[in-house]
Amino acid sequence: MTRLLITGGAGFIGSNFIHYLLAKYPQVEIVNLDALTYAGNLANLADVESDPRYTFVKGDIRNPDDVAKAMADCYAVVNFAAETHVDRSIHEGGVFVETDVRGVFVLCEEARRQKIARFLHISTDEVYGSIPKGAFRETDPLAPSSPYSASKAGGELLARSYFVTYNLPVLVTRSSNNFGPFQYPEKLIPLFITNLIENKSVPVYGDGKQVRDWLFVEDQCEALDLVLHKGEVGQIYNVGAGNEEFNMDVTRALLKLLGKGEDLITYVTDRPGHDRRYAVDTTKIQALGWKPRHNFSAGLKKTVDWYVQREDWWRAIKQKQAEYKAWIEKHYGK
Ligand code: NAD
Ligand code: TYD
Repeated sequence: MTRLLITGGAGFIGSNFIHYLLAKYPQVEIVNLDALTYAGNLANLADVESDPRYTFVKGDIRNPDDVAKAMADCYAVVNFAAETHVDRSIHEGGVFVETDVRGVFVLCEEARRQKIARFLHISTDEVYGSIPKGAFRETDPLAPSSPYSASKAGGELLARSYFVTYNLPVLVTRSSNNFGPFQYPEKLIPLFITNLIENKSVPVYGDGKQVRDWLFVEDQCEALDLVLHKGEVGQIYNVGAGNEEFNMDVTRALLKLLGKGEDLITYVTDRPGHDRRYAVDTTKIQALGWKPRHNFSAGLKKTVDWYVQREDWWRAIKQKQAEYKAWIEKHYGK
């Protein structure tokens, strides 16, 4: 049994995971089911599209027919597909509920029908909410703050209920903020890198003293591989790198790496409901045999180098964003 269904594989972490699996496992077969929302990008997988072990299927996890076809003959499912940006969820939460909750329901139903052997659901540390000090353990209660994190909490609880009720072999990971190649330039690190390359200012929300634990995406891929193959079904695993940084310090590190001055920092109105700090206790996944290989500065250097080399990749996205903005302004005004 070698065929895996990856959902949301044209996004940031999913495409990194597909690259990781194809490089590591000569026998693996991957079906990538992705709706190609604004965040899905086949350019992320251009180098593997003719690999006979890889198949792309355009489809939606909310659509039972799409899911049934893509899941056929797969032994495992890894669900990355989601709406993922907190700021977008504040402006328009409906699609988050649709994809991050109902989409998970559709996947679980089909996985149950097809007797899938491993169902790895990718959740987030944001389901715990903010923590002023210390770190959340997997047994702590969930207290999500945004429509994004609340939808993710709903999705993972639903997945877990399929383990309890139907013995679907569900595994859940809750990881901290990822960064690295192929991350859509709306999230902090790629937005700031690409703005700085263009000599544009970078918008720091509020006082910039929020803390995130930054996990380099290659380390995330290793953690997911381990949980997929060695994790205990029904269990939840926190994944975090212990790379806690204030947003201001991330911003200053990027300015330094790109040789820019602090005049490019703009302080803007804070995000409503902005979580101050995320932190997870990773004892459980470490006991399974994982630890991150990248500290923050090593990961950040690799990431900046990648965005410097792949201007073609992010300029195409920013061009599309600009065209969309112009179209909206033309039809609906500013
Ligand atoms: P992303 O936004 O880069 O990619 C999401 C992908 O899902 C896109 O390719 C998109 O086209 C696809 N998609 C969206 N709706 C879909 C639908 N209805 N049907 C099929 N495909 C659909 O996201 P990411 O940053 O790669 O995150 C992947 C997963 O990891 C998400 O579940 C996210 O909640 C979780 N996560 C992300 C982070 C992070 O820092 N990026 C941290 C923890 C957890
Ligand atoms: P983000 O990358 O959106 O991830 P998340 O909200 O899921 O943690 O944001 C990371 C942090 O950076 C968060 O505290 C919000 C902040 N931020 C800014 O200050 N400016 C920005 O333009 C963005 C996108 C985020």
